[in-house]
Amino acid sequence: MPAIVILGAQWGDEGKGKATDLLATTETIDYVVRTSGGHNAGHTIVVNGEKFATHLLPSGILTPGSTSVIANGVVVSPEALFRELDSLVERGVDVANLVVSANAHVIASYHSTVDKVTERFLGKNKIGTTGRGIGPAYADKVNRLGIRIADLFDESILRQKVEGSLDLKNHVLAKVYNRRAIEVDAVLEELFSYVDRLRPMVADSSLLLNTALDEGKTVLFEGAQATMLDVDHGTYPFVTSSNAVAGGVCTGSGVGPTKIDRVIGVIKAYTTRVGSGPFPTELFDENGEKLWKVGGEVGVSTGRDRRCGWYDAVIARYASRVNGLTDLFLTKLDVLSSWEKVPVCVAYEIDGVRHEEMPMTQTEFHHAKPVYELLDGWWEDISGCRTFAELPKNAQNYVLALEEMSGTRIWAVGVGPGREQSLVVHD
Ligand code: IMP
Repeated sequence: MPAIVILGAQWGDEGKGKATDLLATTETIDYVVRTSGGHNAGHTIVVNGEKFATHLLPSGILTPGSTSVIANGVVVSPEALFRELDSLVERGVDVANLVVSANAHVIASYHSTVDKVTERFLGKNKIGTTGRGIGPAYADKVNRLGIRIADLFDESILRQKVEGSLDLKNHVLAKVYNRRAIEVDAVLEELFSYVDRLRPMVADSSLLLNTALDEGKTVLFEGAQATMLDVDHGTYPFVTSSNAVAGGVCTGSGVGPTKIDRVIGVIKAYTTRVGSGPFPTELFDENGEKLWKVGGEVGVSTGRDRRCGWYDAVIARYASRVNGLTDLFLTKLDVLSSWEKVPVCVAYEIDGVRHEEMPMTQTEFHHAKPVYELLDGWWEDISGCRTFAELPKNAQNYVLALEEMSGTRIWAVGVGPGREQSLVVHD
């Protein structure tokens, strides 16, 4: 199975690393590739009881023998990159096998400045961004004012590009936000300081990955953020600024769609979301608090509490459709132990009309009220189960009911944070 995509089917933080771990038990994964987003992501990986968090780096950095690739679709903060690498090195991780695309865009410190002042300016309409400069870096890319990794190696080009990028921003910073203008020389100094360390990592990652696939190597594309945070298919404008759906893997890596064999959507057995924006099954009662507490629902990247709610099969069907999912990996089923009944959203009621599918407009989505079906719960601790048959009958039925509703077969289920705490439903 040479090219596999793993992506989030909800609003992120679904536990995508678990799907990677399970694949790694049967496949040798030669390359693990990030294709979108930046250091706004957060992957938690537990290796031999030790907890690691990656933000910009692919989780494959923790797998000896596999090459990690930050492909062209990613926005790279060199400062965040080296901070993350240093912290892994301190803990004894070998980070030598890392490749960064020459075409990836750079996040400089001014991008996070612009991110933060924009959010402040938006006030109650803010997106609730991570403040890491992701949106402003992608805006520069699309405005053709971006700086790419390759530009860092050409001093005169870099100066021209930084000047071009800061020209309008400085007017806006000074005249709209009443802030001090950013000095070109200070930015250049910052960026040049990364050049020597970065140079050996930089490559044509599209060529590298296509060659690897031609040679029959296994390439894992590791999604960041998630379907409902996708700039085209998510809950716009409360989204991130890149394409987190499966299509973004192709533009973000320079690997064509005909090369992709499998697209795995990772989905929690309930739902969470960070930041602002609509969330039909969100809970504001003791059930939400219990999910938050038992699920440990605190953002890996920002430490913000995640909003919690029941499973939403409308979103699962939507994610199946817009990503062309071949499999679902259902995570955190163990969190649902100890409910008499577990509600699952099967449709929305919008202004008196039942909708089985995602409504066409955002306005309708904002008005969506969940229509719940109550499934029988279970009380047993399932974190030690390693086969589907070992799950209590009601937990099995919960998984099978979700599969029926969600439009894609459930390949596997996660029952705890550890690498081994997964079980396969369908081979
Ligand atoms: P940005 O990506 O920092 O621009 O933030 C845009 C929205 O995406 C905010 O609601 C963030 O909370 C959300 N977001 C970005 N990255 C992640 C993630 O990895 N998990 C969950 N939410 C995220």
